[in-house]
Amino acid sequence: MSRIPIIAGNWKMHKTAGEAVAFVRGVKGKAEIEGVESVICAPFTALPALAEAVKGTTLKLGAQNLHFADQGAYTGEISGAMLKELGVTYVIVGHSERRQYFAETDETVNKKVHAAFRHGLTPIVCVGELLEEREAGKTRDVVRRQTEAAFDGLSAEQAAQVVVAYEPVWAIGTGRASTAEDANEVIGFIRGVIAERFGADAAAKVRIQYGGSVKPETVPDFMRQPEIDGALVGGASLDPASYIRLVEGAKP
Ligand code: 13P
Repeated sequence: MSRIPIIAGNWKMHKTAGEAVAFVRGVKGKAEIEGVESVICAPFTALPALAEAVKGTTLKLGAQNLHFADQGAYTGEISGAMLKELGVTYVIVGHSERRQYFAETDETVNKKVHAAFRHGLTPIVCVGELLEEREAGKTRDVVRRQTEAAFDGLSAEQAAQVVVAYEPVWAIGTGRASTAEDANEVIGFIRGVIAERFGADAAAKVRIQYGGSVKPETVPDFMRQPEIDGALVGGASLDPASYIRLVEGAKP
């Protein structure tokens, strides 16, 4: 079973709409490599302009969050339908920064995964342990709990479509990435957890990325690992030349 590699740039709170369009001008034609899916996860405010800018390219758009309700009195929130209408196809759910700073819980992550599917969006579900959890030998417990919670109530068909990003929190923005071997081991474990719940076929289809201080030069190391299907990249996804190299590095 071959899974299509997926490189996603998580811009976090970077780039105005104008800066986002300039980025696309810089990567057009170059960050479009056959056999690699390339997704830009931009701030909400840049998405309409980006949707225009990526027309006629193979670049896909992702959001970084959505609300779990379809509509309602939720001041400041964005629904799946609002994203779908813009041509967004992916949405990051449960990033550790949202768990840490915005009170995202396993329960709200699960509700958001369901909301994404209701609106035809593919969730990129982030899981990963804190440094103290790793040091206490709890990595597997943590990623099992987060994965089981996020996937709760999905059909096997939906489960197979989810993209998971394993992002150890201690590796995010620190310059201290996991080794490719360690990441492969944890990602294989996550796939096993999915297999227990949804069967081997579904688990074999799920794409699981590594994230945390990924650089263009390290992408090939991660991609050589059998369980790793791509990368979710923060800092190194912001510069067009760097982003092009990230995508090139995932070429099968
Ligand atoms: P960095 O690549 O900047 O470490 O960020 C990783 C991340 O959080 C992607 O979602």
